[in-house]
Amino acid sequence: MAKSYKIATLPGDGTGPEVVAQGVRVIEAAAKKFGFSVDFTEFNWGGDNYVKTGVVLPDDAVEQLKKFDAVFLGAIGSPKVAPGILEKGILLKLRFELDQYINLRPVKLYPGVDCPLKDKGPEDIDYVVVRENTGDVYTGMGGVSMKGTSDEVAIQEMVYTRAQVDRCLKYAFELAAKRHTKENPWRGLSEEDKKAGYTSQLTLCGKTNVLTYVFNLWERAFHEMGKNYPTVKLNYCHVDATCMWMVKNPEWFDVIVTSNMFGDIITDLAAMTSGGMGISAGGNLNPEGVSMFEPIGGSAPKYTGMNVINPCAAILAGAMMLEHLGETEAAKAIEKSVAYCTENKLKSLSAGKMGYSTSGVGDLVIENL
Ligand code: IPM
Ligand code: MN
Repeated sequence: MAKSYKIATLPGDGTGPEVVAQGVRVIEAAAKKFGFSVDFTEFNWGGDNYVKTGVVLPDDAVEQLKKFDAVFLGAIGSPKVAPGILEKGILLKLRFELDQYINLRPVKLYPGVDCPLKDKGPEDIDYVVVRENTGDVYTGMGGVSMKGTSDEVAIQEMVYTRAQVDRCLKYAFELAAKRHTKENPWRGLSEEDKKAGYTSQLTLCGKTNVLTYVFNLWERAFHEMGKNYPTVKLNYCHVDATCMWMVKNPEWFDVIVTSNMFGDIITDLAAMTSGGMGISAGGNLNPEGVSMFEPIGGSAPKYTGMNVINPCAAILAGAMMLEHLGETEAAKAIEKSVAYCTENKLKSLSAGKMGYSTSGVGDLVIENL
């Protein structure tokens, strides 16, 4: 019998619904072509719903989402709502309560895409960031006192447990070991590395010279676990240096693993080196539970309803979701079609400058599947 998947869609705010619509169309076309079916159920959580009802997220939202095979998210964030309410109340809450402890963000320059880095091409920019997604300053531990006075104290703590670090590192090591193999070694390895048996590289991005408690924990765990992965070459970079190399020598990276806050920051930089928010997708993964896939850009409110926003990031998020569900061929076909379009069809990845409308890009990707 053909496989069938139950997907919850959360189109969200601004241009979220427009890009999710194209993602859904592409997934449906791929399902038809590759012989499986997908049943979508939409939830209207987001800014407009909050303004109308005063409810950010219903109490049973997490329980409801647990019944699905995956969640497909558009964008959360609205100019009608103070910053933080929707982001914390929906996006971060779902990441935490569904225990999506990995935020997987591929960084890939597709052919034909303008790269702001001098003399760099698709062969130079092709790595993956594994961002820890449940700890760090995102836990909200801390507080404020004497607010509004000149003595105001504000504290927000960087929190990590060994268990959180270990489960994140395990995912990153497994990914690195499978992303490149002996038959298909990572291009950055020297002959000596290959002779030593390495096929992949995993870079820990931290700040061991200042955050001497938290990143000492990460570093020890990294080296201990590394002993179990003889094909993975271990590498370490401070976060500031990581930013520098991501611009100067992005070809030095294969898989990067990092903390939640650093991962947030470096993946925006990484996205800009590979075509920007119009094409950058990510997955919030709970490898043992329900995962959520999203374009990593925001809700772009000023383009709402204009049919000009680029849906490629949402379409690629859809491909990541299918890959995660085990529909590898369909996922590869979607990615290939997007790459064909960036190389041969789209004039730009920016809203309004693509030479096609939002739905027009959806049409193109479907035609070239
Ligand atoms: C992201 C976003 C979120 C984050 C915000 C909207 C809370 O920037 O997904 O990277 O900081 O994680
Ligand atoms: Mn971010």
